Amino acid sequence: MDSGYPGKDNKVRKFFVKTFGCQMNKNDSSIITDILESNNYRSVEDPSHADIYIVNTCSVRAHAEQRALGHISSLKKWTARSGRKVVVVGCMAKRIGDKIIKQHAFVDLILGPDSYRNIAKFLDEIYRSKTRIIDTELSNEVYDKIYPKNTGVVDFVSIMRGCNNFCSYCIVPYVRGPARSRPLTDIIAQTHYLIESGVKDITLLGQNVNEYAQGDLNFAGLLNEVAKISGLNRLRFLTSHPKDLNDDVIQAVAKNNSLCEWFHLPLQSGSDRILQLMNRQYYKSDYHQLVRKIRQAIPHAAITTDIIVGFPGETEEEFQDTVDMIHELQFDNAYMYRYSARQGTKAFQYESLPERMIIARLKMIIDIQNEIVMKKAKEMIGRTYEVLFEGPGANKSTRGKTRGNKDIIVEKEITPGSIDKVVIKEVKGHTPIAELID
Ligand code: SAH
Ligand code: SF4
Ligand code: F3S
Repeated sequence: MDSGYPGKDNKVRKFFVKTFGCQMNKNDSSIITDILESNNYRSVEDPSHADIYIVNTCSVRAHAEQRALGHISSLKKWTARSGRKVVVVGCMAKRIGDKIIKQHAFVDLILGPDSYRNIAKFLDEIYRSKTRIIDTELSNEVYDKIYPKNTGVVDFVSIMRGCNNFCSYCIVPYVRGPARSRPLTDIIAQTHYLIESGVKDITLLGQNVNEYAQGDLNFAGLLNEVAKISGLNRLRFLTSHPKDLNDDVIQAVAKNNSLCEWFHLPLQSGSDRILQLMNRQYYKSDYHQLVRKIRQAIPHAAITTDIIVGFPGETEEEFQDTVDMIHELQFDNAYMYRYSARQGTKAFQYESLPERMIIARLKMIIDIQNEIVMKKAKEMIGRTYEVLFEGPGANKSTRGKTRGNKDIIVEKEITPGSIDKVVIKEVKGHTPIAELID
């Protein structure tokens, strides 16, 4: 058998995947799992039962790399049992795979984000000839015709890979290569497959989904096509770049019932000068206008964002501009990060601000945003929402999500996958607690 499995000892090899990083990486771990399972490997939930330990890594911030590197180092002990193999994949594998393989004698295989299609063949080769392999070449790979099994009632469909934007702080274009779009037929086929297997809520994934392009088909066109698929209750997309989110996309969300009223729209900074230095290609007035447009077309739209504080040279005033934007725009949620210098990016050459200053600024905006989230959660009390129930929470409760991507809890056991109307009764911690409406 060419792929070599079952192995020489006729054993079905078992693998465990640990994933760091963004939704795209989680989706890639599902792709890897699917490829390996169709080559007669078996996925296990407990690494102590595994023969192969795969670490899918992230490079977006230094901290993400440190965590992944710490995890990899800790696997030396795990490899003590003979025949066990460690595989490092993902964005950090692309960035510093050569160093990792040199520094960790127990790592056998390193694969970049575009090299997963042949992972079973590589493993076979490693088991057969006891070699170590590194393949981090980028290509036009979009993993078409690979439809990972669903993992619940909520799932993801990648529509693009890579990024062409080169925001000056960001490593992603270097580790994931240029933007490329997956064919419509493939996206539709995977969506059908997921719906048939019980998925109710699908998120279309890409670093900047607004740049989707396949022949004449743009992102708004794609949304209108996918939204038509019968049996699809909820459709979302992630991430939108403010410079590219256009009226047609807003209209597609406004018109199609299945498209959820939620926009994840990373602002990054509220200062025009910093936005320019970041190469974001919009001004804060453009962002304001975009939010106004969205809220005009879809009054209850949820808008969430990403923010970076402490970009090199960010003055107190410029940081205050970001604080002002947070107050003015009242985001439903925000992922807030301190700037992390990434070697190879344009901003790496700029002198960093003192760490203490960056940490203080981060803490300040986290506190402000937490208050906004709390205020918004309280405003939900007494209102009615459509909730998709995802699975059990603590103490016989059930976790669910609104169309605006807000987590809620119902203190009752409810079958995952059901969609019901609820009314919010109270807020515990940051989480709205709801009751079903009979
Ligand atoms: N493609 C998406 C997401 C990219 S990574 C987008 O364009 O928004 C997710 C978030 O990580 C970014 O939005 C940004 O806020 C943050 N990020 C990226 N590089 C970073 C860096 N060097 N330091 C701190 N945060 C960073
Ligand atoms: Fe990074 Fe900018 Fe591309 Fe997002 S759009 S992945 S922040 S370069
Ligand atoms: Fe995602 Fe991290 Fe790579 S954020 S694209 S896994 S660098």
